[in-house]
Amino acid sequence: MDNNYKINVLTSSGNYPVIVGWNIFDQLMGTIKNINGVNRIFLISDKGSLQYANKLKEVLQIEGLLVETYSIESGEIHKNLNTVIEIYKWLSKLKTERKNLLIGVGGGVVGDLSGFIAATYLRGIYFGLVPTTLLAMVDSSIGGKVAVDLESGKNLVGAFYQPKFVLDDISTLNTLSDRELTSGWAEVVKHALIFDSNLFDHFEQNYESIKKLNRDMIVSLIGRSIELKANCVSSDEKETKGQRILLNYGHTIAHALESLTSYTEYLHGEAVSIGMMGAAYISEGIGVLSSEEVNRQKVLLERFGLPTKIMEKVNLDLLLDIMQSDKKIVDSSINWVVLNGIGSASTCNSVPKDLVISSLKRLMIRD
Ligand SMILES: NC(=O)c1ccc[n+]([C@@H]2O[C@H](COP(=O)([O-])OP(=O)(O)OC[C@H]3O[C@@H](n4cnc5c(N)ncnc54)[C@H](O)[C@@H]3O)[C@@H](O)[C@H]2O)c1
Repeated sequence: MDNNYKINVLTSSGNYPVIVGWNIFDQLMGTIKNINGVNRIFLISDKGSLQYANKLKEVLQIEGLLVETYSIESGEIHKNLNTVIEIYKWLSKLKTERKNLLIGVGGGVVGDLSGFIAATYLRGIYFGLVPTTLLAMVDSSIGGKVAVDLESGKNLVGAFYQPKFVLDDISTLNTLSDRELTSGWAEVVKHALIFDSNLFDHFEQNYESIKKLNRDMIVSLIGRSIELKANCVSSDEKETKGQRILLNYGHTIAHALESLTSYTEYLHGEAVSIGMMGAAYISEGIGVLSSEEVNRQKVLLERFGLPTKIMEKVNLDLLLDIMQSDKKIVDSSINWVVLNGIGSASTCNSVPKDLVISSLKRLMIRD
């Protein structure tokens, strides 16, 4: 029986399928057959996802394809132009052609890096993604944003470049560390908070089984979360129509917190979880979210093991300064994503500074 969840992402450069399932590497061949004339495949992975790249290589070689693999060290520190150049040289040595297919097998670091390489090598070669972290499945693999970091900042050099497919094999999450898995739940819960109250109810009722990756329910739940992001980016591919910005719920505070702590204290999802609490307090303060709903959000995040407070001492003024320099500033005020109830979000660029400060202070008060 086919228990997969299939989603279609619509983009100006063509539509692509996202296939979500359990132990589904054998389905990759069927997907590749739909891409014109592919005869060679280049798999990029890192230390954590190498075992999956090797497994895919076996599957594809049995089908008669020529497969080459390249593995980088793990970590954000390697998502840079030096690694890009190393891989360009490797592709050049192997005489890669435009109709060859580059597949990123791994988390968001591998996905962003391989997408950037695919977008630029020979002015664009075929590209596919096999995400192996929860964050990469529900977030970074959907929407075509690819980038690498400069010393002066994250994701400063990049492009919109859509993959030809995304294949999410949930069974790969079994080897992910507890902390990375927990961090990924933040984006899953975020999608429910901003778009789908039924999904949120479902998480409230089944969080224990979901956290254990219960096979009977996990494919459809993660599938639904991916679908929510896919629908959003399909309707606002280049972030110009006011839809895609809603995905930034919690991110204004999260980015500032990550930057203030030099990306060493928090995984992205952990910072987003705290940021979503700050944004919920702001939503409550402007009168669009009830305190009961704020509490439901807090309880669910905590049930997934996510932080809802800033635990270390941080300088509030510095945090505010960093937030002011965020990319999402409109006419010098922050364009906040607020919740108008569980399952519904909008933006507001007239939040009083006092309310921002009191909301940040609530993140620092111990219960
Ligand atoms: N393009 C986008 O729209 C977008 C959105 C959000 C985040 N991102 C980017 O994603 C990156 C973060 O991605 P991430 O959270 O997946 O981190 P990551 O890619 O660094 O992976 C986390 C760790 O898990 C390991 N790993 C991967 N899969 C594994 C598996 N199945 N089993 C065991 N270990 C495994 C990796 O080796 C790494 O050590 C950041 O660079 C961020 O900028 C991009």
